[in-house]
Amino acid sequence: MTAKRAIPHHIAIVMDGNGRWATKRFLPRVAGHKKGVDALRACVRRCGDLGVRALTVFAFSSENWKRPADEVSGLMELLAVALSREVPQLQAEGVRILFVGDRTRLSEKVRNGLAQAEALTAGNTRLTFNICFNYGGRWDIAQAAARLAARGEEITEDNLAGAMALAHVPDPDLLIRTGGEQRISNFLLWQAAYSELYFTDKLWPEFDDAALDAAIADYGRRERRFGRTSEQVADPSPRVSRKAA
Ligand code: FPP
Repeated sequence: MTAKRAIPHHIAIVMDGNGRWATKRFLPRVAGHKKGVDALRACVRRCGDLGVRALTVFAFSSENWKRPADEVSGLMELLAVALSREVPQLQAEGVRILFVGDRTRLSEKVRNGLAQAEALTAGNTRLTFNICFNYGGRWDIAQAAARLAARGEEITEDNLAGAMALAHVPDPDLLIRTGGEQRISNFLLWQAAYSELYFTDKLWPEFDDAALDAAIADYGRRERRFGRTSEQVADPSPRVSRKAA
């Protein structure tokens, strides 16, 4: 393993466990999400410092609308507040913010907030921070296919990949899920095909710099083969034919 490979270019995170963190403390679930914003702020900063170039987080899934109405409105409110508080600092740190997901069901206020954050940070290049909001992996594949169909383009892997909502970044190298569950939950179904998966029992509000460092260190010990053999990975010379790979 070379030093270059040890830091993933793109990290994706399912930030699970906010509700349990709050319930354990006899707090409302939204208090866990608020604490989750603190953990996210620290994580973005740490990723930038470590040289990670893209971070993608699952902030609100297409299925989260099924939660109690007060939790859904609490998350919408939290997004609006977090945007107004955090965006100036993220801008100063060279973070480009992008929202990924279906905006049609979001209020005009939220949609305007997203558009403003994106416009303000559009020129930043240090870290691309994708916030998946009202996002689902199946939605993404379906919208990409619909776009190709509308343009009369052939449905190929390359064309689909180019029409995906995350086409502006390479696929995630490392996908982290906190909160103890070991599933993908409709996150990045297409893009995570070859991501290294890392599961931790830590609840998202407890996921600190040391926890991120541990995940990255674990990633550094993985052998990524992309369908090849160990021997080919060790000696990727041109002698290796495409057929053999
Ligand atoms: C999953 O925990 C977490 C979410 C559904 C929301 C994640 C949101 C944040 C971390 C805050 C950042 C968000 C914005 C608005 C930028 P859970 O509620 O499913 O936890 P549980 O499994 O313990 O119930």
